[in-house]
Amino acid sequence: MRSSNLVLITLVYASQAHGGHELEGRDVPAGAQLYVEHCASCHGAELEGEPDWQTPNSDGSMPAPPHDETGHTWHHDNQLLFDYTRIGGQAVLSALGIDDVKSGMPGFSEVLTDAEIWNVLAYIRSTWPDRIQEVQAMRNPPHQ
Ligand code: HEC
Repeated sequence: MRSSNLVLITLVYASQAHGGHELEGRDVPAGAQLYVEHCASCHGAELEGEPDWQTPNSDGSMPAPPHDETGHTWHHDNQLLFDYTRIGGQAVLSALGIDDVKSGMPGFSEVLTDAEIWNVLAYIRSTWPDRIQEVQAMRNPPHQ
C-alpha cells in the first residue's frame, strides 16, 4: 500500500472494485517507447497534444488532443481508449451511431498487437497524477 492515508486507501479499494486492471501489470517502459514511435507525432512528445487542439480543423475534424491530465483521455474508460487506438476514431464513432463527425485518429490494429496497445495506454496512464488515475479507474464498469 502506497500510503497510510485513509482516504487514499478507500479510493484505491474503490478503483479495484470498479476494475481498471486491464492497465495493471503492463510493460510501461515498452509502452513509452511505442508512444514515441507511433503516437508522439500527433499527440506530442510530452503528451501535450496539437496546438489549439480544441479548435476544429477546416474539414471539421478535431486536432489530436493531449494525453496528459489537461486533455480528456482520462475521461474515458479503458475499453473506449483501447478501441479508439485499435480500430480508430471513425470506426468507434460509427459503432456508436455517430456518422456526422470526422475523426483523424487512425486505427493501429495492423501496426500494434493488443498487448502493445495496452502497454501504450498503461504508459499514458502512468504519467497522470494519482488522483486522475483513480478517477479514471472508477469509469471502468465492474468486470471479471
Ligand atoms: C495521425 C495523427 C495521430 C496519431 C499518429 C495518433 N493519434 Fe490518437 N488521435 C488523433 C486525433 C486527431 C484524435 C482526435 C480524434 C477525434 O476527435 O475523434 C485522436 C484521439 C485519440 C484518442 C481519444 C482521446 C480522447 O480523449 O477522446 C486516443 C485514446 C488516442 N488518440 C490514442 C492514440 C495512441 C495510443 C496513439 C499511438 C499508438 C495515437 N493516438 C496516435 C490523431 C492521432
